[in-house]
Amino acid sequence: MEAPRLTDPAPYQKSVPSNAAVSPPVERRRIALLNQKGGVGKTTTTVNLGAALARRSKRVLFIDLDPQAHLTLHVGIDPDGGTPSVYDLLTNNAITAADVAQRVGDNLWILPAEVNLAGIEPELADRTARGTAQSLLRSRCEALLVEPPGFDFVLIDCPPSLGLLTINALSLAQEVLVPMQAHFLALQGLSKLLETIQLVKQSLNPNLVVSGVIPCMHEGQTILAAEVMADLKTFFDAARSLDVPWRHAKVLAPAIRRNIKLAEAPSFGKTIFDYAPDCHGAKDYESLAQAVLNLMPTASVPAETPRQPVTAAETA
Ligand SMILES: Nc1ncnc2c1ncn2[C@@H]1O[C@H](COP(=O)(O)OP(=O)(O)OP(=O)(O)O)[C@@H](O)[C@H]1O
Ligand SMILES: [Mg+2]
Repeated sequence: MEAPRLTDPAPYQKSVPSNAAVSPPVERRRIALLNQKGGVGKTTTTVNLGAALARRSKRVLFIDLDPQAHLTLHVGIDPDGGTPSVYDLLTNNAITAADVAQRVGDNLWILPAEVNLAGIEPELADRTARGTAQSLLRSRCEALLVEPPGFDFVLIDCPPSLGLLTINALSLAQEVLVPMQAHFLALQGLSKLLETIQLVKQSLNPNLVVSGVIPCMHEGQTILAAEVMADLKTFFDAARSLDVPWRHAKVLAPAIRRNIKLAEAPSFGKTIFDYAPDCHGAKDYESLAQAVLNLMPTASVPAETPRQPVTAAETA
């Protein structure tokens, strides 16, 4: 698929409202979808939550930070296709984020990944020693994100690790959403993740908050799933009075149920709304988009304002 480039003024301008006075306010939320455990639904959630928000006229930018490039493939881009990627953005100062961005649908853009991202840590060793590698993505993307018309949502698909790429995601983001499968040991993995988020908040990004957990591939009828969800809710409730980045975190509803159409869609390079719009996977991601919108007021908020979720759907 030949995706129009963001630097091509025609496709970029196409969805820019001609009358700024009636355009909806830009919300400018930057969300990292993160769980260091593999295969829990991060990429599936990034793609389909983003697509659901785009269908609600939100301008969405995906950032694929995973060397596996699953998000890139999922939106129909060949990661070996020779176009600039996040790897180029992080290693070549002559390339801008606008050069890398590609338009992949109405209101949808992506900074694609490529496999070379897997070797980026040694390439950035000098910067790591100087302490600038950890927020390199943020500094390289800033112009694209702040210049009008901007994006309502930046959704960052993280790799299944807590390495340098993930630290860069946490440095750029204002919020973290944690896709999670309600399995044995899921909560143990969450503590390590929250510890990392706390460290990044203290050292690099004081505005960082954990907005919530998204139960994925959920089998709500099982006792194990119900127990894990109850434990999670108890854990977050106990944090309400603490000075921790997850003090406002919610277990988002609805849970995303297991649905084979969600697993099939990536091979066609389509979101669930293009592949099987009537399946319950599509309905779950539509509802999730509303839950994410409900996490804060829809009024325009400056990009650097700390996010304080005000309402959220919670699991019963
Ligand atoms: N709700 C669902 N129902 C059925 N299959 C799903 C669902 N969500 C995700 N999958 C499938 O499960 C697998 C893992 O999902 P996904 O790639 O989104 O996880 P991930 O956390 O991004 O993985 P990784 O850590 O490797 O990046 C994929 O094959 C995906 O198609
Ligand atoms: Mg993934």
